[in-house]
Amino acid sequence: MTHPPLSPVDEQFTRDPFNTVKRYREQTPIMFNEALGCWMVFGYGLMKEALASPLMTNSPGAQGTEEQRAAFHQRCPNLGWVASRMTLDPEAHRARRRLINSAFSPAAIARQERQIAEVINVLCAPLLNGGIVDFATEISTWIPYQVVTNLMGVEHDSVARFREAALGWAHAYGVNNTPEQMAYYDQQTGILIEELRRMCADRQQAPKADLITDFIRAADEQRVPIDDIIITLCGLIATGSTATKHAIDLCVHSLLTHRDQLQLLRSERSLINNAVNELLRFRTPPKFVNRYALEDTEFGGQAVKKGDLLLLCSAAAEGDPAHFDHPETLDIRRDVSSALTFGHGPHYCVGTHMARTEIRFVLEFLLDRLPADIAVLTDRVTFNANNPLTFEIASLPIDTRC
Ligand code: HEM
Repeated sequence: MTHPPLSPVDEQFTRDPFNTVKRYREQTPIMFNEALGCWMVFGYGLMKEALASPLMTNSPGAQGTEEQRAAFHQRCPNLGWVASRMTLDPEAHRARRRLINSAFSPAAIARQERQIAEVINVLCAPLLNGGIVDFATEISTWIPYQVVTNLMGVEHDSVARFREAALGWAHAYGVNNTPEQMAYYDQQTGILIEELRRMCADRQQAPKADLITDFIRAADEQRVPIDDIIITLCGLIATGSTATKHAIDLCVHSLLTHRDQLQLLRSERSLINNAVNELLRFRTPPKFVNRYALEDTEFGGQAVKKGDLLLLCSAAAEGDPAHFDHPETLDIRRDVSSALTFGHGPHYCVGTHMARTEIRFVLEFLLDRLPADIAVLTDRVTFNANNPLTFEIASLPIDTRC
């Protein structure tokens, strides 16, 4: 039986990804989605292959024909500018990674741990007051954003403006945005670019102890243009804050609704790092990872054309029984070292250590500071299916009065 094409904003997919994608994966690991005009990939093996393939790029600047790109640039000049600067050949990509890697290495994040813990302790404090707290709207929304903007040295009075602009940029990647939404996201992206340009100019005049100053110094030595720094910072703000926020909510929800695993973690605290990884596999935050074909090529037995978009379905890979035994079971003892949550290959996520550290501290706060029987009010949990990029919990009420 052929199933109707999967929509990234499908409600059922957002609420129950593993079960929803199962039937597509069983039908075929790659199919053309006529409604969206792109390929969808469902399965661990093929997703891993696409992530590492030199014939594919994650750069939106490679999408479509030259005419289509020029038209997009005209409609959305700021997004077009970001997309064109993100189109990197492998050597330029490696140079950009060199710029970022040291700031996000395990050692660098370990040095940041005290500050990250402080942010989490302050922002999670309302949970200590007793009562029902909506974790998704009142708490998690600020955690990764505060961590990443602290690291960059964003001034206090710019934080809210930055957040709006970063969200605008992140949402521009939606697959079915309206022209009005795109115009708004383009405007926000312009604001983000200008703010970052101003901060880079400030740091050139008056260096500080922050990431932007470090980038400016490294860029001087490595002759990296300022525009490249701005693009890199745009990426760090958007992915570093939105993906991690949703990841924190999903992990908290999964752990608190699987009491056996919560109990196991309480009794064996050494499992905490593995628990974070398994929680991230079990409710993997990205809906899809994008790839664009650089050449006409055969992929998964299909003829893929240069410029075609492939949406690699993360939940279909993380829930693939050909790779994980009983993938639908949350098992914090499971070996999840091969999970694709943070990607694979040359674009493997820069922020893994930072994201895992934030999630670990949040879980430790719940385990150490709150009553053992705190509970999610499951009938009041809602999801936002409209986010086409990331699984998003809209409301996560937690009862801390127990
Ligand atoms: C749980 C939270 C996160 C998840 C699930 C996640 C997931 C991912 C994935 C799947 C990729 C690969 C994209 C691709 O192959 O096209 C990626 C790349 C990336 N991530 Fe993350 N990420 C998270 C948190 C962060 C954080 C905290 C930062 C930084 C502050 C960050 C920065 C980046 C950057 C810069 C890239 C691009 C790397 C490149 O192209 O070389 N991410 N992330």
